Amino acid sequence: THRSRIFSGMQPTSDSLQLGNYLGALTQWVALQDEHDAIYCVVDLHALTVNPDPAVLRDRTRRTAAQFLAAGVDPARSILFVQSHVPEHAELAWLLSCQTGFGEAGRMTQFKDKSSKQGSEGTTVGLFTYPVLMAADILLYDTNLVPVGEDQRQHLELSRDLAQRLNQRFGPGTAVVPDPHIVKATAKIYDLQDPTSKMSKSAESPNGLIELLDDPKVVAKRIRSAVTDAEREIRFDPAAKPGISNLLTIYSALTGRPVDAIVADYDGKGYGDLKKDLAEVVVGFLAPFQERVHGYLADPASLDEVLADGADRAQALAAPTLERLYDRFGL
Ligand code: ADP
Ligand code: NA
Repeated sequence: THRSRIFSGMQPTSDSLQLGNYLGALTQWVALQDEHDAIYCVVDLHALTVNPDPAVLRDRTRRTAAQFLAAGVDPARSILFVQSHVPEHAELAWLLSCQTGFGEAGRMTQFKDKSSKQGSEGTTVGLFTYPVLMAADILLYDTNLVPVGEDQRQHLELSRDLAQRLNQRFGPGTAVVPDPHIVKATAKIYDLQDPTSKMSKSAESPNGLIELLDDPKVVAKRIRSAVTDAEREIRFDPAAKPGISNLLTIYSALTGRPVDAIVADYDGKGYGDLKKDLAEVVVGFLAPFQERVHGYLADPASLDEVLADGADRAQALAAPTLERLYDRFGL
C-alpha cells in the first residue's frame, strides 16, 4: 500500500512557539503522522536568513524540537530532525536555484514584504532564495503533500512549478509534484492586541502573543487584556467582532467544544467572564505542555540522540533522491 509522504518544517526563530503555531500547525502534524509517512523538520538553515547569534540559534533549535515532541510529534511514528544535519537540503537548493528565474523569485510576496522592512543592505541573498531552499526541502523527499497555511501557498506553488520544470527538462520521474494539504477546520489565531493580524512569533510587540513557554501569569494577563469591542454581547462574528471571535476560536480549539455551545454558555455574561475562563483553559493546557518541554530540555543528550536518529532516517531517504537528480543533471 502506498502511504503519501508529508513534509513540513518550522523555523527556530524564537525561544518559544506561539499558540497559532500549535493550533494551526502542530496539532495537524500530530494528526497526520498515523495515516502518512510524515517528515517534520526544524529548518535551521532557513533561520540563517535573519543572521541569528550562533549560540541563540543552537538553543532555539533544541527548544523548537522539544516543543514539537511536547505537542505529540512522535519519532516512532514520524521522522523528526534538524535540516542542517542532512546536507542534501543545501545541495539540492543549489541545483534548484539554477532552475529558478530571477524574476520568478522576485515575485514572491513574502520576500517583498520582509526585504522592504530590512532595506536592501540588510536583506540577504539567502532571504531572496529562501523559497528555493523550501522547494529543496520538499522535493528531496519526493513529498506528495505539504500542510500549508495561506502565507506559504505561493512558495508551495514555486515548488510545484520547479518539480514540473525538472520533469520537462530532465525527463518524467525526475521529481514528484507536491500538492498542498489543506485542513478545513484549521484554526487561524489572531494577535490579542491586533485581532485582524495573525498571531506571529515575529510580531513587534509580545503583548498580543500567547507564547507556549511563557509564565502562566503573564499569559493570563495578556488574555485578560485582549482587545475586544465596545459592545457587550458575546457572539462569533469575525468581521464585526474580531477580538471576541478570536477568543472564542481559541476556547473552542483547546476544549474541543463547538463555538456555538460556548457562546450559549455565556448568554447574559460579560467579556470579563469569558476572558477569565479562557485564561484558565489556556493555562490548564500550558502547564503540562511546559512540563513536557522542560523534561526534554533537561536531558539534552537524549534529545540530541532523537534528532540524530531522525537525521539518519531522513538522510536515508534524501541521499537516493539527490543521487537521482545529480545523475539527471549530468553531475
Ligand atoms: P510565525 O509567524 O509564528 O513565525 P511561521 O510563519 O513560522 O509562524 O509558521 C509556522 C507554522 O505555523 C505554519 O504552518 C503556519 O501556517 C502556522 N501558523 C503560524 N501562525 C499561525 C496563526 N496565527 N494561526 C494559525 N496558524 C499559524
Ligand atoms: Na514567520
